[in-house]
Formats: sequence, C-alpha cells, structure tokens
Amino acid sequence: MKSTTLTSLKNLKVAGEKFPVVTAYDAAFARLIEQAAIEVVLVGDSLGNVLLGYDSTVPVTMDDMIHHTRAVRRGNNKSLIIADMPFMAYASELQAMDNATRLMQAGAQMVKLEGGAWLEETVLMLTERGIPVCGHLGLTPQSYIKLGGYRVQGRDEQEAEQIVADAHMLEEAGADLLVLECVPSSLAATISRELDIPVIGIGAGPDTDAQVLVLYDLLGISPRLPRFSKNFLTESGNVLSALEAYASAVRTGAFPEPDHGFR
Ligand code: KIV
Repeated sequence: MKSTTLTSLKNLKVAGEKFPVVTAYDAAFARLIEQAAIEVVLVGDSLGNVLLGYDSTVPVTMDDMIHHTRAVRRGNNKSLIIADMPFMAYASELQAMDNATRLMQAGAQMVKLEGGAWLEETVLMLTERGIPVCGHLGLTPQSYIKLGGYRVQGRDEQEAEQIVADAHMLEEAGADLLVLECVPSSLAATISRELDIPVIGIGAGPDTDAQVLVLYDLLGISPRLPRFSKNFLTESGNVLSALEAYASAVRTGAFPEPDHGFR
C-alpha cells in the first residue's frame, strides 16, 4: 500500500471510490491495519470506553491521547493517522493550538474536533497554520450529557438544517475530512453529495464517502455491539482477515447495509 495523503483521499471521492477507516490505539493493531491496506486510522478518544474502562470519553486526557498516538505511529507508517482532541482540549483557540501541536508532534497527521458553529475560528486558525482538521458532527460523544444521552441527531428539520450548515462551515474553514455520527441516512447522503471533502460515516447509512468503525466492535470484543456496527471476526477467523473483510465490504458497498443506518 502507498502512503495515504489528503490528496489521495480526495481523489477517491472524486472517483466515487469508498474507503475504510478504523480506530486503533496501539502499535500491534496499527501494524495489522497497515497490512490490511486500510487508508485511514483514527486514534479515537473511544479508547476511554473500549480500552480504559470509562463509561464515556469525558475522562480521556491529552496525555492519554499522546501516549496512544505515539504507539499507533510506531506500528503504522502508511495509513493517515487522525488523533482525537479529547474533552476540553480545544475549549479555547489557544488550547486548541497547543494541544493540536502536541498530537502532531506525537505522530498524528490530522486532528479531529467535535462540534459545529462555535469551532469556525478554531478550524480556520489550525488549518491556516498547517494542521489538518477532521470535523465531527451529529452525535458528538463528548457532549452526550448536554445532548441528553447517546441519541440520533438531526431527525427534526431544524436540527438537520443546522448540521448541514455546520458541515459547509467546516469545509469552508479548511477541514479536509468530516465524520458524521448517528444521523439519518438521508441527511448523511445529502451532506456527502454537497461537500467536496470526503465524509466518513458511522451510524450514518450506506451513502457516505467512507466508513469508520471502532476496532473492538469490528472484532466483536466490545461488551455491546452498536446496531450500526458489525462483527467481522466471526466469519474471518483471525484479526488480519477481519480487517481485510471490513475494508473490502466498505469498498464494494456491502457494508454498511441500509439496516445499519437510522431514519
Ligand atoms: O473516538 C472515536 O472512536 C470516534 C469514532 C466513533 C468516530 O470518534
């Protein structure tokens, strides 16, 4: 596999070719992800839930993210590495600048921030200074308390319009990728069509440009499999084959199926 770049991802979108994204938190799995030729690896703050045993991503710290980003970098030189900015690491523009710098110096090639309108200046500032940004809209788990729990976002018209407006704003502010989590499939399809940057879905139906899954869900070792996810290990027999099966299912459009999405 050739090294992934922002240009190669944009070219995939232009060509109408879907690409897989998966989370990883250590060098061993990051190496297998490279072997499976998966274009993008996300050092997600989901590590708080799946690895560290917290019941949300809120307790995850910058030190946690740096530790795991370094490990993933050591295992994988080809996939593009996105690192999550954890809870409150980007509450002000200055914090965002300092913390994004730390993640890039730990081996990330892009940082991911959860949120819409309030992040406009922050995204502009980071991208103008050469730090690539991935936006994250819809269900933003760091705000789950304010959102009233882990619920599908954008079901009513006003909420949907706000998500569409935020998506355009993030693209205009310089974001190079966008994650849409737990939104109705039709809304994700509209946003994917309207934006030039690749849109990565999770619980967002079959019509986004790319898909992301939490590695431990894909391997069936999370305590509870979300209904938008799929265990690829059962049919595959080993971790590398499971990753390859996932990548192939995303590229051919076999995953996600319509039933993995929301209305
Ligand atoms: O932290 C994470 O793993 C994520 C994905 C669910 C998109 O943000």
